[in-house]
Amino acid sequence: MELPNRAALAPMTNRQSASDGTLSDMERRWLVRRAQGGYGLLSTCAASVCHEGRAWQGQLGITEANMPGLTALAAELIAHGAAPFVQLHHGGREAKFAPGLRLSTVDGEGVRGATPADLERVVDAFVVAARRCEAAGFSGVEIHGANGYLFTQFLAPRDNPRTDAWGGDLAGRAKLLRDTTRAVRAATSSRFAVGVRISPVDIGSRRGLVLDDAQVLARWLADDGIDFLHLSLTDASGAPPLEDTDEPVATVIRRALPASVALVAAGGIQTAADVGRAMAAGVDIVATGRVAIPHPDWPTEVTQPGWSPLPPPWTRQHLASVDVGEKLFEYLQLFRGLVEGGRPA
Ligand SMILES: Cc1cc2nc3c(=O)[nH]c(=O)nc-3n(C[C@H](O)[C@H](O)[C@H](O)COP(=O)(O)O)c2cc1C
Repeated sequence: MELPNRAALAPMTNRQSASDGTLSDMERRWLVRRAQGGYGLLSTCAASVCHEGRAWQGQLGITEANMPGLTALAAELIAHGAAPFVQLHHGGREAKFAPGLRLSTVDGEGVRGATPADLERVVDAFVVAARRCEAAGFSGVEIHGANGYLFTQFLAPRDNPRTDAWGGDLAGRAKLLRDTTRAVRAATSSRFAVGVRISPVDIGSRRGLVLDDAQVLARWLADDGIDFLHLSLTDASGAPPLEDTDEPVATVIRRALPASVALVAAGGIQTAADVGRAMAAGVDIVATGRVAIPHPDWPTEVTQPGWSPLPPPWTRQHLASVDVGEKLFEYLQLFRGLVEGGRPA
């Protein structure tokens, strides 16, 4: 697959779907505006693969009922020149809508330790969702293995005290993610790209991995057939904040991957200098989250000499002019210092 450029829109939850997970016009406009702005690789928000994995109100769902909307969305994004991807997500213990079926590694407060049959159902749900994404015309999927959700709960030693095949050493803790990745790869065509997003290092929440483990996992996922690995970082060109090394995470992971697997990374990329640093560290495709909110045209704006982004807090009026809907605006108010009237910085 050839992408039009190296700029990716990072997956961003916008809570604009209907209560049954159906795509809304506001969510469509949010994505289409950023495709018009020149993003080559464009990801939806974390979209739920099944009801029991849904983690928040307004989350996009990859359901049969959503196929007409998803099909029209993919076609529109492609017409604007983007390669559209869906981020496939299961909340694990962060899921909220299926009491009694909130799964994680072990029993806990309101949470059930997943049985082998539960985990088989999870893998199947990802397969069905990925097939739907391919049928809808998307370029590929990204399996959300980062940021504390189901796969991270299995990967992080703190969260996974299991002693069966899905726990213990890294091979056990990575089994669910790898089984899912292989099953999704096998169920989709070779023209359809499959990637995985991981939290390769710990940033203080003890929900990431240590870099040595992330390297091994990266290699395993390459063996499992991924086309790209996406690193969720706070600084895309930085070293692990809590480990004793100065080498950028991206450099270490790039070295672990074969040349055929693209490395995507997000974390603090805003200016051309940030892009340069990330690429020098080994990132092939730079993903932007926050800067794309006020700047849908970022991929071209960032190439203009001396350009710098609008500092937050961003106004409701400016965001409305770049297709940030009311529900997304309300969600952004929960972030520190991001928008006017929101939480203070
Ligand atoms: C509003 C918002 C929603 C996000 N939603 C998701 C999501 O659905 N899936 C995900 O993997 N990361 C999500 N993230 C994290 C971003 O993809 C990205 O990794 C993070 O914002 C760091 O990049 P940045 O410094 O360019 O913002 C979200 C971030 C923001 C600000």
